[in-house]
Amino acid sequence: NWTTGNVIEEQVEAIRELVGDKRAICGLSGGVDSAVAAALVQKAIGSQLTCVYVDHGLMRKGETEQVEKDFVAATGVQLKVVDAEERFLKALAGVTDPEEKRKIIGREFIRVFEQAQAEIIADEGPAVEFLVQGTLYPDVVESGGGTGTANIKSHHNVGGLPEDLEFKLIEPLRKLFKDEVRMVGKELGLPEEIVQRQPFPGPGLGIRIVGEVTKERLDLLREADAIAREELTAAGLDRDIWQCPVVLLADVRSVGVQGDGRTYGHPVVLRPVSSEDAMTADWSRLPYDVLARISTRITNEVRDVNRVVLDVTSKPPGTIEWE
Ligand code: XMP
Repeated sequence: NWTTGNVIEEQVEAIRELVGDKRAICGLSGGVDSAVAAALVQKAIGSQLTCVYVDHGLMRKGETEQVEKDFVAATGVQLKVVDAEERFLKALAGVTDPEEKRKIIGREFIRVFEQAQAEIIADEGPAVEFLVQGTLYPDVVESGGGTGTANIKSHHNVGGLPEDLEFKLIEPLRKLFKDEVRMVGKELGLPEEIVQRQPFPGPGLGIRIVGEVTKERLDLLREADAIAREELTAAGLDRDIWQCPVVLLADVRSVGVQGDGRTYGHPVVLRPVSSEDAMTADWSRLPYDVLARISTRITNEVRDVNRVVLDVTSKPPGTIEWE
């Protein structure tokens, strides 16, 4: 009979046996899957695990701190943080095409991650034989069920493995669905904000700025997004919506008025959707008063954003993200 306790016990034992006195590396993305996988492996082998978090500067407000502080506090995990914001911004300068952005972010991510791995191996020696992956059951099915040293999840996930790496994989979530992973995470004592986190794309806010990605624009979007998330949470709507991208239309300006003055600022788009699996989605019918609060706060508190618009397109034909 299935209980989270059983799953944890079983996995901890299996991981201990598998790893022995070797060492493992785990990349953290800030998402639920990698966090729970890392926490499980940490429980099994403790300081034989080193986690790597690449800060690409495209995370939402507070998310990097959540990994650096809250996750570490909850698990005691050994964490190497690589601050790569400048590198990513440089690589993204002048780029507006969405697929081009994805390619660049994916490529840079792998380079930075590989470099961090190399440093860990230099520090800790050849005993580093294992790589932890937060592969879930649906990912296994989707990719044909293989296991071993393969590159499993590269299609949609920036946290995916580079193809030429010869690590043995530890995939403690291979038999679990998302809701089960959340339960395991909760049982392991992970913070609610991590365990209940809604889907967030690997390329992060980089694909939520329509136009060139710059530090300034990222900061604007981070503020607007934080306000939207805060109000949705305060209204108790987190469980009703699948996710709510906030998109900055950085190349669009519209005229507004504030106080005595005319403004010429950018719009942000709210894209709240309900969905079962992200393959199809419908726009969420959010209460008008919640939308009003979000709109008022964003236009009051975020300089340069003078208009908030609501996306009422289902998927298909619209995708969830704008890029
Ligand atoms: P779309 O926009 O295709 O999104 O309707 C479907 C789901 O996938 C997420 N998404 C991504 N996740 N890398 C990711 O890891 C990506 O490049 C990417 N693009 C979209 C999106 O947030 C939604 O949950």
